[in-house]
Amino acid sequence: MIWITITVLIMSVTLSHTDDFCYDNHHCDPYAWGDWFQSCHPILEAHHSPINLDHSMSRNDSLDALLLDGFNASHTGHWKLKNNGHSIVLEVGNGMSVSGGGLPGLYHTTQLHFHWGSLISNGSEHTVDQHRYPMEMHIVNVKSSHPNLTSALADPTGLAVLGFFIDVNYIDNVHFGQISQLLSSVAYKGEMASVKPFPLISLLPENSLSKYYRYHGSLTTPPCSQAVLWTMYEVPIYVSWSQFKQFATRIFSTEKDEEHVTHLHDNFRHIHPIFSRRIYASKDAKLLSASTTHLYIPVLAVLLLQPTLTVVLIYGL
Ligand SMILES: *[C@@H]1O[C@H](CO)[C@@H](O)[C@H](O)[C@H]1NC(C)=O
Ligand SMILES: *[C@@H]1O[C@H](CO)[C@@H](O)[C@H](O)[C@H]1NC(C)=O
Ligand SMILES: *[C@@H]1O[C@H](CO)[C@@H](O)[C@H](O)[C@H]1NC(C)=O
Ligand SMILES: *[C@@H]1O[C@H](CO)[C@@H](O)[C@H](O)[C@H]1NC(C)=O
Ligand SMILES: [Zn+2]
Repeated sequence: MIWITITVLIMSVTLSHTDDFCYDNHHCDPYAWGDWFQSCHPILEAHHSPINLDHSMSRNDSLDALLLDGFNASHTGHWKLKNNGHSIVLEVGNGMSVSGGGLPGLYHTTQLHFHWGSLISNGSEHTVDQHRYPMEMHIVNVKSSHPNLTSALADPTGLAVLGFFIDVNYIDNVHFGQISQLLSSVAYKGEMASVKPFPLISLLPENSLSKYYRYHGSLTTPPCSQAVLWTMYEVPIYVSWSQFKQFATRIFSTEKDEEHVTHLHDNFRHIHPIFSRRIYASKDAKLLSASTTHLYIPVLAVLLLQPTLTVVLIYGL
């Protein structure tokens, strides 16, 4: 019963806002969301998402791998893949939950969705040392103690979102194919396709799930509620360029019979300030400051050894 209520509520929240926000027009893009949704205003000290992940984090040894319950099972029934005009959403029914890894309780998995760029731009929401990945996947989980989404959104830790960067290489990812092959049937806003459930773990970087970053933030779409414990995984998922291209060029934010078709791409919100928030690295995560130091040592050595090159470089800048 509770599950049906939550699903219906998520659907109605999504549907009631579909005509209100967009990514590609200054009247309704992320910088204008605050005009319609008070809670999207990035006021001082607000905890908004996404953020840039950099060296300003601290290690927390109590953060080990989350327990991903049911992610390794092939569930019965069917899942639904949908184009809601803002993203491609996979609704995964019930039977999966996440806990542990410092989360205050059990969270039921409800859906996953994607953010992506275009043929000429990367489109992850979070960035790492200012680097933007081609795509990002969000697995959305609602704290089990809440009877409905409205009450979860009023709780600072009401949702737990698992974020995965998606990078591009040369090989098709057969597991990702279970989603990307269906994209043509959900090309237009409002379209829906049935998906045979598969073990969700097969989409994830299975051997690196203890490496992540944790912080408190918000939904990255209206109403931008500051209700999310974010877990951003360090190791990306890899897909092929042609799989990425399906997202970047074949999805529309408009309905099939609309006169003007609009491609859906670059559906990410801008980076927000961290203010006084603490960002934690899990026990096994690499601390980002380490890689920054690495980069600078060889550059400095070259500069010290090569005075002429230094001059060239300085003029070049
Ligand atoms: C998932 O199941 C497979 C096959 O049964 C097993 O090899 C693997 O270790 C399991 N992974 C997790 C995270 O439980
Ligand atoms: C580490 O994380 C745990 C779980 O989120 C939290 O209770 C604890 O306060 C954190 N430790 C530090 C030193 O911040
Ligand atoms: C975009 O992503 C590609 C693939 O990971 C990377 O090589 C490139 O540097 C990224 N571009 C930007 C501007 O971050
Ligand atoms: C959601 O749950 C809260 C807490 O039980 C309740 O007060 C509220 O009326 C519910 N809202 C809806 C829309 O069902
Ligand atoms: Zn998202």
